[in-house]
Amino acid sequence: MIILKKEPLSGEALKSEILRTIKELPPMPQSVFKAREIMSNPKSSFKELGQILEMDQGIATAVLKFANSSYYGLSGRVSSIQRASVVLGHKTIAELITVATASRLLGKKLDGYDLGAGELWRHSMGVACASKIIATRKNPGLANDAFTAGLIHDAGKLILGSYILEWKEEFQQFMADGRKTFLNAEREILGFDHSQIAAEVCKNWCIPQLLATAIEYHHYPSRSQGSELAYIVHVADVIAMMTGLGLGADGMNYQMDDKAIEFLDLQRKDISNIMVEILAFVEKTSEEMSGPG
Ligand SMILES: [Fe+2]
Ligand SMILES: [Fe+2]
Repeated sequence: MIILKKEPLSGEALKSEILRTIKELPPMPQSVFKAREIMSNPKSSFKELGQILEMDQGIATAVLKFANSSYYGLSGRVSSIQRASVVLGHKTIAELITVATASRLLGKKLDGYDLGAGELWRHSMGVACASKIIATRKNPGLANDAFTAGLIHDAGKLILGSYILEWKEEFQQFMADGRKTFLNAEREILGFDHSQIAAEVCKNWCIPQLLATAIEYHHYPSRSQGSELAYIVHVADVIAMMTGLGLGADGMNYQMDDKAIEFLDLQRKDISNIMVEILAFVEKTSEEMSGPG
């Protein structure tokens, strides 16, 4: 008896199916757009911002949770968004809104990448923290953007995870000789790698171009036409992998860009210091948040 196996989509059909899936990701909540609009207007008041955010209880609770974590230094001292924005300032609140929104998505289990529940979240928090540390040394003006870009750099994995699972055997065969990278496999088999997909996700979420470029080139910053942020997130990603945060199926198969360390003027000692710092940060925030959400 011949059993006909239903072939999964491939080629152009698969590519359009993947692009369609991006549209199914939860959108950035309306309150986030309104909050960004308010923050971009210098005449806006803390009160207005507080009012908008408090209308979305999910976001408001998450923002307060993060604001009260030891990382942001308010340890349990603020109980209203309005107060948090006065103490932390608009820029940090913008960062918190992204963290709160991303945390709802990144905590999921991703079988295609062998990432258990919360693992991508821990990896992303590690990369966000390392990106911020590197940016603070190299170009402090980029520190907040570096944190946000680091946090959502792997959002493309949310889309590709289930397709990788569908094409598991092909991925295993492709990787069998140990010379190819997982990114090559993603491009070859699915038509996109997760950084290209993340760039599309950024468009959907209206993420500013500076961050979207860094995210798109986080695995090959030298193709970014000199995006400092792309180099920062790239090195932060590798450092987080070195600590074992979110290694998953692909972690051992990434290559560090040869010029990145020199470009960012980092020494071996700096890298080990950053590793220690991000591990402590992830440990602490995970405890304080008791998981994403
Ligand atoms: Fe990545
Ligand atoms: Fe990553």
